[in-house]
Amino acid sequence: MSRNRKRLYLVLGLALVVFFAWRFLRPMNIFVVEDRFAWPVDTTAVPAVLGELRAAQCGACHEAFYKEWQTTIHSQAWTDPYFQADWKFDNRQHICRLCHTPLDRQQPHKVLDYRDRARWDPVMEDNPAFDPRLQHEGVTCAACHFRDGRIVGVLGDTAAPHPVKKLETPNQVCVRCHVVNGDRWDTFFRFPPCGTVAEIQQGAGSEPVSGELSVADIAALGCVDCHMPAVERPLVAGGPVRKARRHLWRGGHDPAMVKQALSMDFAPTTGGEGGSFTLSLANTGAAHYVPTGTPDRHLTVRLRVFDARGEVITEENHTLRRRVMWRPFIVDLWDNRLARGETRRYAIDVPADGRAASVEAVVRYHLLDEARRRRIGYDNPEPISYEIFRRRIQLAGGGGT
Ligand code: HEC
Ligand code: HEC
Ligand code: HEC
Ligand code: HEC
Ligand code: HEC
Repeated sequence: MSRNRKRLYLVLGLALVVFFAWRFLRPMNIFVVEDRFAWPVDTTAVPAVLGELRAAQCGACHEAFYKEWQTTIHSQAWTDPYFQADWKFDNRQHICRLCHTPLDRQQPHKVLDYRDRARWDPVMEDNPAFDPRLQHEGVTCAACHFRDGRIVGVLGDTAAPHPVKKLETPNQVCVRCHVVNGDRWDTFFRFPPCGTVAEIQQGAGSEPVSGELSVADIAALGCVDCHMPAVERPLVAGGPVRKARRHLWRGGHDPAMVKQALSMDFAPTTGGEGGSFTLSLANTGAAHYVPTGTPDRHLTVRLRVFDARGEVITEENHTLRRRVMWRPFIVDLWDNRLARGETRRYAIDVPADGRAASVEAVVRYHLLDEARRRRIGYDNPEPISYEIFRRRIQLAGGGGT
């Protein structure tokens, strides 16, 4: 090999090492900050009737809505201890505030501009209008309802003391925060992480390529149909009864909601020899994948055969989750979550030696896994996983010793 060529290989090799070192060390900015949420909601001109835009002030007139909102994770989007731990672990990035506390006066700093194209490096200055109490309200009423000095809603024919603007579809409200895009050269996924909106869009037949998601039919997403159950009630005390929606937004923090997403059964395998049992899981209740949201969310399935003393003879474990490789590039490794309408079956064979006395299936939902909990130093006040299904079947004539 000539000396020049050797030198060339050396330089190329070094460049490659430096490149990968940078890919592993650079800050982990997993999405592009799009126009949709790059700037906080402007609240410079607030009609006097809305006071300081606090939820309790809306609640003085809209009591039922306020009481429901108080029970939701939206009202805790800032104080949520899991969010707080994760945010600190992520160097308290400003970007996180854009969805977890989206109003300008919820933020201690104003963003004047961004230094980089992906917009993770904001130019900031102190915000004299900062309201720490409002910050603690997270995704507060005004986060969804206040735009350009008016209250947005879908009714459009009410007698409100505040200016109102009619929305074409209520799902428009959700799209701002429930998807992040990644229009970048270094991302290789079917749809972005945390992409609940994108998952529905994908299921609808269109084929979004990495970074090219656009929601064509927002009205068809159905978010409010499932997450804000319809109810007939007055909006204010003494007002006319109207078609309204409950402000509940249940999801991964609510076992009943997660159970509603799935049809689950555990029974002898149909057409089998009798020595096998099958757990079936079907996504019959959600339009997106189950689980959805952050890729931390996952389901585990455990199938076990016991002897008469309750000792485990055989055991099988499965995990349903989306696995994303974050470094050096963002790549979908696998995704075996349940798509809309999909059924998954897991079978376990009972050993024929006559020792087996019972078989059991257990399904658990996990908000995040134990390893990640420890890594980010999240001291969870509530369990990070819970059971959503358990069935034990006694075997006739089994358990003989
Ligand atoms: C002084 C009482 C009062 C306050 C304060 C108030 N509202 Fe209202 N709001 C009303 C009344 C009255 C209506 C109309 C009720 C009707 O006609 O049934 C209304 C209507 C609405 C509607 C329906 C609009 C539509 O066309 O869909 C929304 C949404 C709404 N308010 C949200 C809010 C929010 C959010 C706040 C706080 C930022 C707030 N309101 C503060 C009294 C109030
Ligand atoms: C301003 C941003 C924003 C908007 C708008 C928004 N959300 Fe959210 N939503 C969040 C954040 C942030 C969380 C997570 C909060 C946390 O756990 O820290 C969340 C959580 C949720 C959850 C999960 C609950 C759980 O148990 O984990 C559901 C369901 C949900 N939102 C539905 C909706 C629907 C439906 C809409 C539209 C009507 C909507 N959201 C609009 C930001 C938003
Ligand atoms: C996560 C977004 C979100 C938050 C937070 C939120 N709302 Fe709403 N709200 C909506 C949507 C979407 C609708 C339209 C529902 C529909 O289709 O009728 C709505 C409708 C309403 C209505 C009109 C009746 C109806 O159901 O259409 C009132 C009144 C209202 N909201 C008050 C409040 C108050 C008060 C708060 C805070 C305590 C609040 N909202 C917080 C999204 C939100
Ligand atoms: C057909 C009913 C249905 C529709 C439509 C639907 N969802 Fe869901 N969603 C569910 C059910 C059931 C769950 C609970 C299972 C789970 O958490 O995976 C859920 C869970 C969630 C969660 C919880 C994720 C977490 O991290 O805990 C979020 C966020 C969410 N949905 C947002 C949305 C948004 C945004 C839309 C519209 C783009 C939407 N959903 C449309 C039924 C629905
Ligand atoms: C584009 C809007 C958006 C941005 C920006 C954003 N989030 Fe979220 N975040 C959400 C939504 C929506 C949810 C709830 C649905 C889900 O599970 O994905 C959520 C949920 C979470 C959760 C789960 C909370 C729980 O209780 O289970 C954590 C933790 C979190 N976000 C941390 C962060 C951090 C840290 C950042 C900044 C690096 C960030 N988020 C930036 C929208 C956003």
